[in-house]
Amino acid sequence: MTAMTPAQLTDEVLAEYARAPDPRLRELLTALVGHLHAFSAETRLTQREWEAAIAFLTATGHKCDAERQEFILLSDVLGLSSLVDVINSAPGATESTVLGPFYVPGAPRRAMGEQIGRPQDGSPALVRGRVTDVSGRPLDAATLDVWQTAGNGLYDTQDPDQPRFNLRGVFVTGPDGRYEFRTVRPVSYPIPTDGPVGDLLRNAGRHHWRAAHIHAIVSAPAHRSVTTHIFDADNPYLTSDAVFGVKDSLIKPFRPPTPADPSDVTSVVDMDFTLSPADP
Ligand code: BEZ
Ligand code: FE
Repeated sequence: MTAMTPAQLTDEVLAEYARAPDPRLRELLTALVGHLHAFSAETRLTQREWEAAIAFLTATGHKCDAERQEFILLSDVLGLSSLVDVINSAPGATESTVLGPFYVPGAPRRAMGEQIGRPQDGSPALVRGRVTDVSGRPLDAATLDVWQTAGNGLYDTQDPDQPRFNLRGVFVTGPDGRYEFRTVRPVSYPIPTDGPVGDLLRNAGRHHWRAAHIHAIVSAPAHRSVTTHIFDADNPYLTSDAVFGVKDSLIKPFRPPTPADPSDVTSVVDMDFTLSPADP
């Protein structure tokens, strides 16, 4: 009798999953088993390393509750969330990026040009642009749902000193597709590091900073919504964002206002959004 080889074992497992009745599940499971086995064989994974991985995943699960999703954070710092996003992006539309864990549905609808934060939240900025379809036609009744942290790097949901829905708001375009709102210039902020994902970052010698950004979900009737960010071009973390969310097309200068701009802000950013048609 000769001892079983890793390749024989892999083939035996693959043959079992090749019998899954659902074709897509079969494709996913056989690819998953194939890659997991190849990874373990290639790295000659030890028993202790396997145990450490199981302990890490168990701790990740224990860190999850109704407010905290450590598995999504793990997916984020491994670049998996961004990879899935890139694979599924709509050609011709504004590039999308990670949703993140701090989106809260139900933000108040605000008047065009309105300020979404408070004076003490940071340096006043004006954000404006147009929402169009892929041919450049303005989109009427497009909705921008925006959110960001205050100058202390905290979202309202993390900071008892901020009122509910501070630095959040929903804006709806008219027939010209234009939008405009006042906010504060975004700052870099740390992702949560008090769980297993924090340990992973420290052990990997990675930092925990997100490049400064404003979140937006842009939608319009009969069009595919885009979940995206506006990144501040003048930020040191653009090339090392903790969750790999930066796309060149989303980086915009927060420039000083000219005499033609409103005088109540210290920076102005222009960001247009393009939406592709909804799937039929
Ligand atoms: C955020 O931008 O809100 C975010 C995204 C991923 C992980 C943590 C925070
Ligand atoms: Fe964020």
